[in-house]
Amino acid sequence: MRTETEHTIYLKDYAPSPYRITAVDLDFKITSETTRVQALLTVEPREDTAPGTPLVLDGDELSLSSIAIDGAPLMLSAYVADSNSLTITEPPLRRFVLETEVVLRPEGNTSLMGLYRSGGTWCTQCEPEGFRRITYYLDRPDNLAVFKARMTAPLELAPVLLANGNLVDKGEAGDGMHYAVWEDPFPKPAYLFALVAGDLGSITDSFTTASGRRVALAIYCAHGKEEQCLWAMDSLKRSMAWDERRFGREYDLDIFNIVAVSDFNFGAMENKGLNIFNDKLVFAQPETATDGDYEGIERVIAHEYFHNWTGNRITCRDWFQLCLKEGLTVYRDQEFTSDERSRAVKRISDVVTLRAAQFPEDGGPLAHPARPDQYREINNFYTATVYEKGAEIVRMLATLLGEAGFRKGMDLYFERHDGEATTIEAFLAVFAEANDIDLEQFKTWYLQAGTPRLVAEDSYDAASQTYTIKLKQETKPTPGQPTKQPLVLPIKFGLIGPNGSPMGWSGASGAEVRDEMIILDSAEAEVIFTGVANKPVLSLLRGFSAPVNLDTNLTQENRLFLAQHDSDPFNRWQSLQDVGMALALQAIGGKPWDDAAVKSLGGAFADTLASDTLDDAFKALALSLPAESQIARTIGRDVDPSRIHDVRDQLLAAVFGPLAMAMQDAYGRLDDDAPYAPDAASNGRRALRNKLLGLLVASKAPGAEALAAEQYAQARNMTDRLAALAAMAGAWTADAPALLADFRSRFAADPLVLDKWLAVTASVPGDGVIDRIQAVLAEPSFPKANPNRLRSLVATFAMSNPTQFARPDGAGFRFVADFVRDIDLINPQVAARVLTGFRIWPMLESGRREAAKSALSELQSGGTLSRNTADILTRMLAE
Ligand code: ARG
Ligand code: ZN
Repeated sequence: MRTETEHTIYLKDYAPSPYRITAVDLDFKITSETTRVQALLTVEPREDTAPGTPLVLDGDELSLSSIAIDGAPLMLSAYVADSNSLTITEPPLRRFVLETEVVLRPEGNTSLMGLYRSGGTWCTQCEPEGFRRITYYLDRPDNLAVFKARMTAPLELAPVLLANGNLVDKGEAGDGMHYAVWEDPFPKPAYLFALVAGDLGSITDSFTTASGRRVALAIYCAHGKEEQCLWAMDSLKRSMAWDERRFGREYDLDIFNIVAVSDFNFGAMENKGLNIFNDKLVFAQPETATDGDYEGIERVIAHEYFHNWTGNRITCRDWFQLCLKEGLTVYRDQEFTSDERSRAVKRISDVVTLRAAQFPEDGGPLAHPARPDQYREINNFYTATVYEKGAEIVRMLATLLGEAGFRKGMDLYFERHDGEATTIEAFLAVFAEANDIDLEQFKTWYLQAGTPRLVAEDSYDAASQTYTIKLKQETKPTPGQPTKQPLVLPIKFGLIGPNGSPMGWSGASGAEVRDEMIILDSAEAEVIFTGVANKPVLSLLRGFSAPVNLDTNLTQENRLFLAQHDSDPFNRWQSLQDVGMALALQAIGGKPWDDAAVKSLGGAFADTLASDTLDDAFKALALSLPAESQIARTIGRDVDPSRIHDVRDQLLAAVFGPLAMAMQDAYGRLDDDAPYAPDAASNGRRALRNKLLGLLVASKAPGAEALAAEQYAQARNMTDRLAALAAMAGAWTADAPALLADFRSRFAADPLVLDKWLAVTASVPGDGVIDRIQAVLAEPSFPKANPNRLRSLVATFAMSNPTQFARPDGAGFRFVADFVRDIDLINPQVAARVLTGFRIWPMLESGRREAAKSALSELQSGGTLSRNTADILTRMLAE
């Protein structure tokens, strides 16, 4: 395999640059074909920079058209320029202004990094290394500079001209051109630079900060979509208020702009004062957006807004520290959603996501620490580990320190590091200092890859009234890390008495026990509780207080007891999952389940459904068997996805079949004719109703298909319509193809709804799906360069259709590998992301494993790949 450049970057090699750029003055001349970028960079040598030290600037596919220092053009011998760098051989050893000019062709930029065009709009994406595609620069996050951007563009094509900070000038420029000048007073790394030029509509609003400053808010979008931005605006204002309440953080500019674009490599980007969003995370109206979309918009609007303090005001020293801003900001957005909606439901859904996305990463060939110490392509490290595990680590810190202690640390962080580019060490140090504790061992969470297994075994001695929990933690080797250290695990717990009420104890020894939490920091411990009056049932790892795989000696009876009596909603939910998992594993292992056990689980589900204390959203989550991917991961080796699928289907029918009447009743009662509202309670009601419909269809309850068909036809919002469609498609009922066709034509004009159709189409777990996907891809009008469309169709297939992706004949693997090869030429980031779907391959049974390996090997031997894709592939195939 040949790749662009094969070089590895190591954290240990970090060194500050010998020069700093302190001010950037950019001039963009935008025409429909090209954009001319003139950059004036104020450069200063560091104090200790030796005379004759070259200044090396980054570039990516650039070509230099002119260069000068302090106004004097440079001789050819004074510099070396190629597409990837610009070296000034002997720069002056004093402050000087470097002036360069390059010409870009945004129209042909399909990688969507740097300056590109989306639906006619010029826009940028610079994180992590896109700015070097705009001009030669010290493109590293520890170089903070003040930016000024002047744009001149055709008024007709781009009446709206935006960049970071404040608008300081604008006017006519003759010949149908106009200009605008934006200045951002806050020094920032280049990855936070942004500009937008286009013909856009907008909605405006304002927010008054706690200290009384009025901030002008605007969301820009394609004309005609303005109404669909109202929910995003509402979410923005709530986010701004929340960050003041919860973290004492006010917004700092007088203007905050958001722009929605259709072609975007990921969710959104926190550019200073000018967030750019994938439009799927902005647009919402009941007919086309689901409850999940509404919640996702709220969450990501909040996330990007919160970055203003955790990311922008305080940024990362280098990209190894990515989780410094991402893990922390995900933690903050999780807390926001918990406060705005239901904390219990949010925690359960986050753990479901963590297990579905991060645990498989941590347990497979792409495992890496939350703070990696090496990379070849940083774009491949915007992962669930950096984001979601990063958030879990911050959450554990908050659990260990308590709310007040955590806040003290955060306050000190903002106070001490505002305006800096810093590190995980500095982050941990403020918590250690503010709380006078040692976090040295805790830091291992950032450095060590892999999901720990926590094994707990309890016993009770009635004579001495002592209760003992034996705990053991172990982390398996991961690529590059053969041996592992014990981690600090905050294990929230409770002891539950026979009547369901909490039990106390008089003393505890063997580990630190406080605040209803055991703190395990060794590989093994025996925690002994004295004064325990009866044998308790143990509720361990409440709230999923540490991201581990937990094994206990709880019996199925204990679990069903917890499902009913635990005061911790997470463990109530988890207990039902565990009972289902045990039954599924037993059946997959070849032992038929016993009817009594199935009946008990069904009974527990029936009780859950009938409860008048649990809320609907919780019930919707609780009435589930573990996902196929979750079962596969628990089995861990020689996995046969088809067998898992079939057995889970049978179990589902056995457990939920007898509940059909109760479910249908509840389904009927949950109907209402109120107009759609996105609030948590209405959302929960729809979630439960649609969960019931899904279960009725999947368990083949009599009349269920008719119910689904009716719901599909009558639905007044996308949540209900899509749920009915997905239920039918998932079971591939006789009506499914017709419903799919109807859905597609009904919403033919809306690309974001097309994505839903593509995802449902790609998820159907039966033969024929690959042909159908290929047919869609081959349609001449299919937008082959749009990441949303490609991900909805092909990433969904690779990530969420295990029976077809991992077909024993290898056709699924070959299809995805071929797709990756094609798309890699257009957009390497999309290609690399889709390729990560293969990460399950080492745990498959041998036939499928070989088939996957040969598809991967073929991709490897098939010619030049981008660095993004080559990096994933190399790690995927390393033994
Ligand atoms: N910082 C952006 C966000 O979380 C995402 C940037 C993603 N970049 C990437 N190369 N994948 O909020
Ligand atoms: Zn982020």
